[in-house]
Amino acid sequence: MSRSKHLLINSIYQQNIDRTPIWIMRQAGRYLPEYIATKNRAGGFMSLIRNPELACEVTMQPLRRYSLDSAILFSDILVVADMFNMDLRFEEKKGPIFDNPIRTEADLKKLPSQLDVSKLSYVNETIKNIKGELNELLPLIGFIGSPWTVATYLIEGNSTKQFAYVNEMVKSNPSLLVKILEMITKGSIDYVKQQIENGVDALMIFDTWGGLLSKENYEKFSLSFIQKIILSTKKDGVPIIYYSRSKSNFAELKKLDISCVGISSENNLGEMYKFFDKKFAIQGNLDVDILKEDESTIKKEITKTLDTFPFKSGHIFNLGTGITPDIHPDKVAYLVDQVKELSIK
Ligand code: CP3
Repeated sequence: MSRSKHLLINSIYQQNIDRTPIWIMRQAGRYLPEYIATKNRAGGFMSLIRNPELACEVTMQPLRRYSLDSAILFSDILVVADMFNMDLRFEEKKGPIFDNPIRTEADLKKLPSQLDVSKLSYVNETIKNIKGELNELLPLIGFIGSPWTVATYLIEGNSTKQFAYVNEMVKSNPSLLVKILEMITKGSIDYVKQQIENGVDALMIFDTWGGLLSKENYEKFSLSFIQKIILSTKKDGVPIIYYSRSKSNFAELKKLDISCVGISSENNLGEMYKFFDKKFAIQGNLDVDILKEDESTIKKEITKTLDTFPFKSGHIFNLGTGITPDIHPDKVAYLVDQVKELSIK
Protein backbone atom coordinates (compact mmCIF):
# COMPACT_ATOMS: atom_id res chain seq x y z
CA MET A 1 0.00 0.00 0.00
CA SER A 2 1.58 3.28 -1.06
CA ARG A 3 1.55 6.16 1.40
CA SER A 4 -1.30 8.63 1.24
CA LYS A 5 -0.90 12.36 1.74
CA HIS A 6 -3.63 12.06 4.37
CA LEU A 7 -2.88 11.14 7.99
CA LEU A 8 -6.33 9.56 8.35
CA ILE A 9 -5.77 7.18 5.44
CA ASN A 10 -2.25 6.29 6.59
CA SER A 11 -3.59 5.38 10.03
CA ILE A 12 -6.44 3.34 8.51
CA TYR A 13 -3.80 1.37 6.57
CA GLN A 14 -1.62 1.13 9.72
CA GLN A 15 1.32 2.90 8.13
CA ASN A 16 3.82 5.01 10.07
CA ILE A 17 2.28 8.19 11.47
CA ASP A 18 3.57 10.88 13.80
CA ARG A 19 0.34 11.32 15.77
CA THR A 20 -3.21 9.94 16.01
CA PRO A 21 -5.74 11.45 13.57
CA ILE A 22 -9.09 12.68 14.91
CA TRP A 23 -12.51 13.42 13.47
CA ILE A 24 -15.91 13.38 15.17
CA MET A 25 -19.08 11.57 14.20
CA ARG A 26 -21.80 14.21 13.52
CA GLN A 27 -19.10 16.90 13.57
CA ALA A 28 -21.43 19.08 11.48
CA GLY A 29 -24.48 19.26 13.72
CA ARG A 30 -26.75 20.97 16.18
CA TYR A 31 -24.07 21.75 18.81
CA LEU A 32 -22.77 24.41 16.36
CA PRO A 33 -24.82 27.64 16.18
CA GLU A 34 -23.70 28.22 12.58
CA TYR A 35 -25.15 24.80 11.65
CA ILE A 36 -28.54 25.71 13.12
CA ALA A 37 -28.49 29.06 11.28
CA THR A 38 -27.70 27.37 7.95
CA LYS A 39 -30.35 24.69 8.54
CA ASN A 40 -32.94 27.38 9.19
CA ARG A 41 -31.84 29.24 6.07
CA ALA A 42 -32.30 26.02 4.06
CA GLY A 43 -35.76 25.46 5.57
CA GLY A 44 -35.05 22.30 7.55
CA PHE A 45 -32.80 19.24 7.65
CA MET A 46 -34.01 17.54 4.44
CA SER A 47 -33.84 20.79 2.46
CA LEU A 48 -30.32 21.30 3.79
CA ILE A 49 -29.24 17.82 2.66
CA ARG A 50 -30.76 18.39 -0.79
CA ASN A 51 -29.03 21.74 -1.26
CA PRO A 52 -25.46 21.05 -2.55
CA GLU A 53 -24.16 24.55 -1.71
CA LEU A 54 -25.50 24.60 1.84
CA ALA A 55 -24.70 20.92 2.49
CA CYS A 56 -21.12 21.73 1.49
CA GLU A 57 -21.18 24.81 3.71
CA VAL A 58 -22.19 22.82 6.84
CA THR A 59 -19.63 20.11 6.02
CA MET A 60 -16.92 22.80 6.12
CA GLN A 61 -18.13 24.56 9.29
CA PRO A 62 -16.47 22.25 11.85
CA LEU A 63 -13.24 22.29 9.80
CA ARG A 64 -13.06 26.08 10.06
CA ARG A 65 -13.38 25.91 13.84
CA TYR A 66 -11.19 22.88 14.56
CA SER A 67 -8.11 21.30 13.02
CA LEU A 68 -9.81 17.98 12.39
CA ASP A 69 -8.18 15.38 10.15
CA SER A 70 -11.14 14.61 7.90
CA ALA A 71 -14.37 15.94 6.48
CA ILE A 72 -17.47 13.75 6.33
CA LEU A 73 -20.14 14.22 3.71
CA PHE A 74 -23.16 16.01 5.14
CA SER A 75 -26.15 13.81 4.40
CA ASP A 76 -28.00 10.96 6.13
CA ILE A 77 -28.04 7.18 5.82
CA LEU A 78 -31.78 7.33 5.04
CA VAL A 79 -31.54 9.35 1.79
CA VAL A 80 -31.18 6.01 -0.01
CA ALA A 81 -34.99 5.83 0.40
CA ASP A 82 -35.26 8.46 -2.37
CA MET A 83 -34.57 5.56 -4.74
CA PHE A 84 -37.54 3.63 -3.33
CA ASN A 85 -39.84 6.66 -3.69
CA MET A 86 -40.35 6.55 0.07
CA ASP A 87 -40.93 9.99 1.43
CA LEU A 88 -38.52 10.76 4.28
CA ARG A 89 -39.21 13.59 6.65
CA PHE A 90 -37.64 14.66 9.93
CA GLU A 91 -39.54 16.00 12.89
CA GLU A 92 -37.85 18.06 15.58
CA LYS A 93 -37.22 15.80 18.64
CA LYS A 94 -38.68 12.75 16.86
CA GLY A 95 -36.13 12.17 14.11
CA PRO A 96 -36.81 10.39 10.81
CA ILE A 97 -40.36 9.45 9.77
CA PHE A 98 -41.67 7.37 6.86
CA ASP A 99 -45.45 7.73 6.71
CA ASN A 100 -45.78 4.54 4.63
CA PRO A 101 -43.43 1.97 6.17
CA ILE A 102 -42.88 -1.47 4.57
CA ARG A 103 -44.60 -4.13 6.66
CA THR A 104 -46.21 -6.46 4.10
CA GLU A 105 -45.53 -7.92 0.65
CA ALA A 106 -48.19 -5.51 -0.67
CA ASP A 107 -46.28 -2.52 0.77
CA LEU A 108 -43.13 -3.72 -0.97
CA LYS A 109 -44.91 -4.27 -4.30
CA LYS A 110 -45.89 -0.59 -4.38
CA LEU A 111 -42.23 0.44 -4.60
CA PRO A 112 -40.43 0.85 -7.96
CA SER A 113 -39.02 -2.36 -9.43
CA GLN A 114 -36.19 -0.45 -11.14
CA LEU A 115 -34.04 1.71 -8.90
CA ASP A 116 -32.84 5.03 -10.26
CA VAL A 117 -29.64 6.29 -8.58
CA SER A 118 -29.90 9.62 -10.39
CA LYS A 119 -32.49 10.53 -7.72
CA LEU A 120 -29.45 10.96 -5.49
CA SER A 121 -27.50 13.10 -7.95
CA TYR A 122 -27.70 16.08 -5.59
CA VAL A 123 -25.18 14.17 -3.43
CA ASN A 124 -22.74 14.16 -6.39
CA GLU A 125 -22.94 17.93 -6.51
CA THR A 126 -22.37 18.18 -2.75
CA ILE A 127 -19.32 15.88 -2.97
CA LYS A 128 -17.86 17.91 -5.87
CA ASN A 129 -18.37 21.15 -3.94
CA ILE A 130 -16.72 19.73 -0.82
CA LYS A 131 -13.77 18.29 -2.77
CA GLY A 132 -13.26 21.71 -4.34
CA GLU A 133 -13.23 23.40 -0.92
CA LEU A 134 -10.93 20.79 0.63
CA ASN A 135 -8.47 21.14 -2.23
CA GLU A 136 -6.86 17.78 -1.31
CA LEU A 137 -5.73 19.18 2.05
CA LEU A 138 -8.03 16.81 3.92
CA PRO A 139 -9.78 13.59 2.92
CA LEU A 140 -13.55 13.26 2.58
CA ILE A 141 -15.42 10.34 4.14
CA GLY A 142 -18.54 9.20 2.28
CA PHE A 143 -21.02 6.82 3.89
CA ILE A 144 -24.07 4.61 3.73
CA GLY A 145 -26.15 2.78 6.29
CA SER A 146 -25.97 -1.01 6.33
CA PRO A 147 -29.00 -2.56 4.62
CA TRP A 148 -30.11 -3.99 7.99
CA THR A 149 -29.87 -0.65 9.82
CA VAL A 150 -31.68 1.19 7.00
CA ALA A 151 -34.33 -1.57 6.93
CA THR A 152 -35.13 -1.05 10.63
CA TYR A 153 -36.25 2.52 9.77
CA LEU A 154 -38.11 1.54 6.57
CA ILE A 155 -40.03 -1.14 8.50
CA GLU A 156 -40.66 0.75 11.75
CA GLY A 157 -41.36 4.07 10.00
CA ASN A 158 -39.69 6.02 12.80
CA SER A 159 -36.89 6.13 15.33
CA THR A 160 -38.45 3.76 17.86
CA LYS A 161 -36.13 1.97 20.24
CA GLN A 162 -38.63 -0.90 20.57
CA PHE A 163 -38.15 -2.37 17.07
CA ALA A 164 -41.45 -4.31 17.44
CA TYR A 165 -42.26 -4.62 13.72
CA VAL A 166 -38.77 -5.50 12.61
CA ASN A 167 -38.29 -8.08 15.39
CA GLU A 168 -41.60 -9.62 14.41
CA MET A 169 -40.54 -9.76 10.75
CA VAL A 170 -37.26 -11.50 11.67
CA LYS A 171 -39.31 -14.16 13.44
CA SER A 172 -42.35 -14.63 11.27
CA ASN A 173 -41.61 -13.28 7.79
CA PRO A 174 -37.85 -13.55 7.11
CA SER A 175 -38.44 -13.96 3.37
CA LEU A 176 -40.04 -10.48 3.18
CA LEU A 177 -37.16 -9.09 5.25
CA VAL A 178 -34.67 -10.62 2.80
CA LYS A 179 -36.48 -9.01 -0.15
CA ILE A 180 -36.32 -5.62 1.57
CA LEU A 181 -32.62 -6.12 2.34
CA GLU A 182 -31.94 -7.11 -1.27
CA MET A 183 -33.64 -3.94 -2.53
CA ILE A 184 -31.62 -1.73 -0.16
CA THR A 185 -28.39 -3.57 -1.06
CA LYS A 186 -28.99 -3.06 -4.77
CA GLY A 187 -29.66 0.65 -4.29
CA SER A 188 -26.70 1.02 -1.92
CA ILE A 189 -24.27 -0.55 -4.41
CA ASP A 190 -25.24 2.01 -7.06
CA TYR A 191 -25.15 4.83 -4.52
CA VAL A 192 -21.72 3.85 -3.16
CA LYS A 193 -20.28 3.64 -6.67
CA GLN A 194 -21.61 7.10 -7.34
CA GLN A 195 -19.99 8.50 -4.19
CA ILE A 196 -16.66 6.90 -5.12
CA GLU A 197 -16.81 8.17 -8.71
CA ASN A 198 -17.32 11.67 -7.36
CA GLY A 199 -14.24 11.46 -5.18
CA VAL A 200 -14.84 10.28 -1.60
CA ASP A 201 -11.54 9.10 -0.08
CA ALA A 202 -12.96 6.57 2.39
CA LEU A 203 -16.33 4.95 2.92
CA MET A 204 -18.01 4.37 6.25
CA ILE A 205 -20.78 1.80 6.68
CA PHE A 206 -23.04 2.57 9.64
CA ASP A 207 -24.47 -0.68 11.00
CA THR A 208 -25.68 1.08 14.12
CA TRP A 209 -28.34 -1.55 14.93
CA GLY A 210 -26.35 -4.66 13.93
CA GLY A 211 -26.13 -5.52 17.63
CA LEU A 212 -29.90 -6.12 17.86
CA LEU A 213 -29.49 -9.43 16.04
CA SER A 214 -28.43 -12.80 17.44
CA LYS A 215 -25.07 -14.09 16.21
CA GLU A 216 -26.64 -16.25 13.53
CA ASN A 217 -29.10 -13.59 12.36
CA TYR A 218 -26.38 -10.92 12.35
CA GLU A 219 -24.50 -12.96 9.78
CA LYS A 220 -27.67 -13.77 7.82
CA PHE A 221 -29.47 -10.39 7.80
CA SER A 222 -26.66 -7.88 8.20
CA LEU A 223 -23.13 -9.00 7.33
CA SER A 224 -23.99 -11.03 4.22
CA PHE A 225 -25.57 -7.95 2.61
CA ILE A 226 -22.74 -5.66 3.72
CA GLN A 227 -20.32 -8.13 2.18
CA LYS A 228 -22.04 -7.75 -1.21
CA ILE A 229 -21.63 -3.98 -1.06
CA ILE A 230 -17.98 -4.30 -0.03
CA LEU A 231 -17.22 -6.70 -2.88
CA SER A 232 -18.79 -4.29 -5.37
CA THR A 233 -16.31 -1.55 -4.33
CA LYS A 234 -13.23 -3.76 -4.18
CA LYS A 235 -11.60 -2.63 -7.40
CA ASP A 236 -11.95 1.04 -6.39
CA GLY A 237 -9.41 0.78 -3.58
CA VAL A 238 -11.30 3.04 -1.18
CA PRO A 239 -10.79 2.00 2.46
CA ILE A 240 -13.91 0.96 4.35
CA ILE A 241 -14.70 1.71 7.98
CA TYR A 242 -17.42 -0.47 9.53
CA TYR A 243 -19.28 0.94 12.56
CA SER A 244 -21.67 -0.74 14.94
CA ARG A 245 -22.87 0.06 18.44
CA SER A 246 -22.64 -3.64 19.17
CA LYS A 247 -20.91 -4.94 22.27
CA SER A 248 -20.64 -8.47 21.00
CA ASN A 249 -20.83 -10.19 17.60
CA PHE A 250 -17.38 -8.87 16.70
CA ALA A 251 -15.93 -12.29 15.86
CA GLU A 252 -18.18 -12.42 12.79
CA LEU A 253 -16.51 -9.32 11.37
CA LYS A 254 -13.20 -11.05 10.79
CA LYS A 255 -14.27 -12.27 7.39
CA LEU A 256 -15.22 -8.82 6.08
CA ASP A 257 -12.89 -7.17 3.62
CA ILE A 258 -12.71 -3.87 5.47
CA SER A 259 -9.84 -1.75 6.79
CA CYS A 260 -11.15 -0.29 10.02
CA VAL A 261 -13.78 -1.04 12.69
CA GLY A 262 -15.49 1.84 14.51
CA ILE A 263 -16.47 0.92 18.06
CA SER A 264 -18.66 2.48 20.73
CA SER A 265 -17.53 3.46 24.21
CA GLU A 266 -18.19 0.13 25.97
CA ASN A 267 -15.30 -1.54 24.17
CA ASN A 268 -11.53 -1.32 24.67
CA LEU A 269 -9.53 -0.03 21.68
CA GLY A 270 -6.35 -2.03 22.26
CA GLU A 271 -8.22 -5.23 23.07
CA MET A 272 -10.27 -4.91 19.89
CA TYR A 273 -7.11 -4.31 17.84
CA LYS A 274 -5.52 -7.45 19.29
CA PHE A 275 -8.76 -9.39 18.93
CA PHE A 276 -8.79 -8.65 15.20
CA ASP A 277 -5.12 -9.67 15.10
CA LYS A 278 -4.20 -6.17 13.85
CA LYS A 279 -6.06 -6.94 10.64
CA PHE A 280 -8.21 -3.82 11.02
CA ALA A 281 -7.46 -0.33 12.32
CA ILE A 282 -9.77 0.75 15.16
CA GLN A 283 -11.79 3.97 15.34
CA GLY A 284 -13.25 5.40 18.52
CA ASN A 285 -14.28 5.66 21.26
CA LEU A 286 -14.45 8.44 23.88
CA ASP A 287 -17.82 8.60 25.62
CA VAL A 288 -19.50 11.80 24.37
CA ASP A 289 -20.71 12.62 27.90
CA ILE A 290 -17.08 13.18 28.98
CA LEU A 291 -17.28 16.43 26.96
CA LYS A 292 -19.73 17.77 29.57
CA GLU A 293 -16.98 17.61 32.22
CA ASP A 294 -14.27 20.19 33.00
CA GLU A 295 -11.03 20.35 31.02
CA SER A 296 -8.89 18.44 33.50
CA THR A 297 -11.36 15.52 33.48
CA ILE A 298 -11.52 15.59 29.69
CA LYS A 299 -7.72 15.52 29.51
CA LYS A 300 -7.55 12.57 31.91
CA GLU A 301 -10.09 10.63 29.84
CA ILE A 302 -8.31 11.43 26.54
CA THR A 303 -5.06 10.11 28.03
CA LYS A 304 -6.87 7.02 29.28
CA THR A 305 -8.37 6.43 25.83
CA LEU A 306 -5.02 6.92 24.05
CA ASP A 307 -3.32 4.62 26.57
CA THR A 308 -5.72 1.78 25.77
CA PHE A 309 -4.08 1.71 22.32
CA PRO A 310 -0.33 1.22 22.89
CA PHE A 311 0.52 0.60 19.22
CA LYS A 312 2.27 2.81 16.68
CA SER A 313 -0.52 3.16 14.13
CA GLY A 314 -4.00 1.89 13.39
CA HIS A 315 -6.01 4.14 15.72
CA ILE A 316 -8.37 6.88 14.56
CA PHE A 317 -9.58 8.97 17.47
CA ASN A 318 -13.34 9.59 17.56
CA LEU A 319 -16.26 9.51 19.97
CA GLY A 320 -18.09 6.23 20.56
CA THR A 321 -21.31 7.70 19.10
CA GLY A 322 -22.23 10.94 17.35
CA ILE A 323 -21.77 14.26 19.17
CA THR A 324 -24.98 15.49 20.81
CA PRO A 325 -26.53 19.00 20.73
CA ASP A 326 -25.78 19.54 24.45
CA ILE A 327 -21.98 19.75 23.98
CA HIS A 328 -20.33 23.18 24.13
CA PRO A 329 -18.28 23.90 20.97
CA ASP A 330 -15.27 25.01 23.09
CA LYS A 331 -15.02 21.52 24.57
CA VAL A 332 -14.57 20.13 21.06
CA ALA A 333 -11.73 22.61 20.42
CA TYR A 334 -10.07 21.41 23.62
CA LEU A 335 -10.57 17.76 22.66
CA VAL A 336 -9.06 18.14 19.19
CA ASP A 337 -6.05 20.13 20.43
CA GLN A 338 -5.34 17.74 23.29
CA VAL A 339 -5.58 14.60 21.15
CA LYS A 340 -3.10 16.12 18.72
CA GLU A 341 -0.67 17.06 21.47
CA LEU A 342 -0.98 13.97 23.65
CA SER A 343 -0.76 11.45 20.81
CA ILE A 344 2.56 12.58 19.32
CA LYS A 345 4.57 9.40 18.78
O1 CP3 B 1 -21.38 12.49 10.88
C1 CP3 B 1 -21.67 13.46 10.13
O2 CP3 B 1 -21.41 14.64 10.41
C2 CP3 B 1 -22.27 13.14 8.77
C3 CP3 B 1 -23.68 13.25 8.63
C4 CP3 B 1 -24.55 12.17 9.24
C5 CP3 B 1 -25.84 12.44 9.75
N1 CP3 B 1 -26.43 11.26 10.08
C6 CP3 B 1 -26.44 13.78 9.86
C7 CP3 B 1 -27.57 13.98 10.76
C8 CP3 B 1 -24.35 10.80 9.34
C9 CP3 B 1 -23.13 9.96 9.00
C10 CP3 B 1 -25.55 10.23 9.86
C11 CP3 B 1 -25.73 8.79 10.08
C12 CP3 B 1 -27.00 8.29 10.60
N2 CP3 B 1 -28.25 8.80 10.39
C13 CP3 B 1 -27.13 7.11 11.38
C14 CP3 B 1 -26.01 6.17 11.76
C15 CP3 B 1 -25.12 6.71 12.81
C16 CP3 B 1 -25.75 6.86 14.18
O3 CP3 B 1 -25.98 8.01 14.56
O4 CP3 B 1 -25.99 5.85 14.79
C17 CP3 B 1 -28.50 6.95 11.68
C18 CP3 B 1 -29.10 5.84 12.50
C19 CP3 B 1 -29.19 8.03 11.04
C20 CP3 B 1 -30.66 8.28 11.03
C21 CP3 B 1 -30.97 9.52 11.77
N3 CP3 B 1 -30.64 10.79 11.33
C22 CP3 B 1 -31.64 9.64 13.02
C23 CP3 B 1 -32.15 8.48 13.84
C24 CP3 B 1 -31.70 11.00 13.32
C25 CP3 B 1 -32.41 11.64 14.50
C26 CP3 B 1 -31.60 11.57 15.73
C27 CP3 B 1 -30.66 12.74 15.82
O5 CP3 B 1 -29.49 12.54 16.16
O6 CP3 B 1 -31.09 13.86 15.56
C28 CP3 B 1 -31.04 11.71 12.27
C29 CP3 B 1 -30.87 13.18 12.18
C30 CP3 B 1 -29.55 13.74 11.79
N4 CP3 B 1 -28.67 13.15 10.93
C31 CP3 B 1 -29.03 14.99 12.19
C32 CP3 B 1 -27.81 15.16 11.55
C33 CP3 B 1 -26.90 16.36 11.62
C34 CP3 B 1 -29.75 16.00 13.08
C35 CP3 B 1 -30.74 16.71 12.23
C36 CP3 B 1 -31.13 18.07 12.74
O7 CP3 B 1 -30.38 19.03 12.51
O8 CP3 B 1 -32.21 18.21 13.31
